[in-house]
Amino acid sequence: MNAAQKLKFSIRPNPAPVAADVRAGLLKDPGFGRVFTDHMVTIRWTQDGGWQDAQLRARAPISLDPAAAVLHYGQEIFEGLKAYRRDDGSIALFRPEQNARRFNASAARMALPQLPEELFLGAIDALVKADVAWVPGNDGSLYLRPFLFATEAFLGVRPSAECLFMLIASSVGSYFKGGDKAVTVWLSEHYTRAAAGGTGAAKCGGNYAASLLAQAEAIGHGCDQVVFLDAAEHRWVEELGGMNVVFVFDDGAIQTPPLSGTILPGITRDSILALARRQGRVVREERYAIEQWRADAASGRLRECFACGTAAVVAAIGRIRSAQGDFLIGDGNGGPVTAALKAELVGIQRGQIADADGWVRKIL
Ligand SMILES: Cc1ncc(COP(=O)(O)O)c(C=O)c1O
Repeated sequence: MNAAQKLKFSIRPNPAPVAADVRAGLLKDPGFGRVFTDHMVTIRWTQDGGWQDAQLRARAPISLDPAAAVLHYGQEIFEGLKAYRRDDGSIALFRPEQNARRFNASAARMALPQLPEELFLGAIDALVKADVAWVPGNDGSLYLRPFLFATEAFLGVRPSAECLFMLIASSVGSYFKGGDKAVTVWLSEHYTRAAAGGTGAAKCGGNYAASLLAQAEAIGHGCDQVVFLDAAEHRWVEELGGMNVVFVFDDGAIQTPPLSGTILPGITRDSILALARRQGRVVREERYAIEQWRADAASGRLRECFACGTAAVVAAIGRIRSAQGDFLIGDGNGGPVTAALKAELVGIQRGQIADADGWVRKIL
């Protein structure tokens, strides 16, 4: 066992946590990403000393040197996963070791240090235990946001010799304002998200910064999300700004773009594909062209389409809007395959359906 794996968290509870009645008020309708808990985790890293100084402490602003590399060159990565309050009263995570692995894959791409899986999972354990009162019941969950960024005060362009890992948590409800209603997506034909050899498969802040203008364009056109095409031919469907995309055909087969390095390897995507395979469906990880999407929607060969990711879990896509006009998927209201896959996944996460694959990790 190396030094980082033996690192113990110093636990300093928040001396002034939010009052219980105020918290209860916040949890009634938390929305997404606005309500934060009482604590956070910080772990420092230096090139010479490795991982050190692991703390669970009161959530508070941090101070950074104005020359901190992250502020100039964007050397940063993050993750997103949820803790659920289940019907039996337990609190559980969904495949958190996958987030730990993807975190390190992102770290490698952004020349950041590898965080031992035990430390990643240990930080989550410590924070969820300290802030368990913030895990909403019913349809809500505690969204966990681990992130790692370059703190060295140095303006030369090279990997930072100092970094900070942090973990914060946010009590959340539904991701989309419309709840379960099918969403409308805007086809971004001008802006792309990632090119071959770039950082598309890493969960780094820069990918999201680069998507914001396209996302704003989507909102401007009355859409919920943007869908990106590939950077080389502007033809192949890639993913949404924050979710993978899946197509359901009239023969029951499902298809999703392959993990070719330009899209995020979603954990929800992987779970949905596993559930669909178990249902006996043909599952294809193959490219899908925008003109085919339009033609299949018109002919009825494409029956359903949905977006999937941790934040929204599964969201039916009802309408695609673009400069060339709109097209509908089915009747525009989602369909039974999407609904059944969502129900199965949510059921496993919430402990209402048997966890055949060992995806659920109980914390409390
Ligand atoms: C760009 C992008 N694609 C896909 C996903 C879905 O990934 P996951 O299912 O692991 O949340 C996300 C969400 O994290 C994302 O930001």
